[in-house]
Amino acid sequence: MVSVQDAGAQFAARLLDLGDGMRVLDACAAPGGKTAHMLELADVDLTALDTDPVRLARVNSNLERLGLSAHLACADAAATEAWWDTRTFDRVLLDAPCTASGVVRRHPDIKWLRQPGDIRRFAEQQQRLLEALWKVLGRGGKLLYVTCSIFMEENQERIGGFVARHPDAHILGAMPGRDGLLLPDNEHDGFYFSLLQKV
Ligand SMILES: C[S@@+](CC[C@H](N)C(=O)[O-])C[C@H]1O[C@@H](n2cnc3c(N)ncnc32)[C@H](O)[C@@H]1O
Repeated sequence: MVSVQDAGAQFAARLLDLGDGMRVLDACAAPGGKTAHMLELADVDLTALDTDPVRLARVNSNLERLGLSAHLACADAAATEAWWDTRTFDRVLLDAPCTASGVVRRHPDIKWLRQPGDIRRFAEQQQRLLEALWKVLGRGGKLLYVTCSIFMEENQERIGGFVARHPDAHILGAMPGRDGLLLPDNEHDGFYFSLLQKV
């Protein structure tokens, strides 16, 4: 009947300012914590993508358990030609793959598993996803970029560079933490949030 979710993660669905009837894309959805939260907040037409079929199956089982529904597809969100029907979305959640440096206290093995080249590799993936998903967002629509990392290379640098390259991308204010950066503390994990509007 319930889902347990970190207090920091719970900011995502609310920041998206969802309304009934909106077309919403959850680009990196598995295991579906934020997918379910969005569907609980408004009656939206939601498409959830993930590249990992095993993790995507967990989105399906979580939605079934909660009595919610969405269109699920196993796809690379950046390869839009493979999954997008050209109808734009009102809201896009990009909960990007990242080093997960903000959730090390929950997954201490992260410190041993990460390799020196990982930050650059994730940053490239994040940029590729941002560039591709901007195309599927309708004018006036909002894209929320989220990571559970506290590194600038995956956060402020990605968004700063993106906005510099896209004059139609406007950063909306009033983010949690320090300009969208939540450092891990007694109440929540570490996250970064940036809400962009297509103007
Ligand atoms: C941070 S997790 C998402 C967590 C999820 N939003 C939630 O709240 O439960 C990132 C996800 O992105 C997926 N992923 C990585 N690259 C992707 C891509 N190119 N397209 C779609 N999904 C991708 C991973 O398999 C992983 O499940």
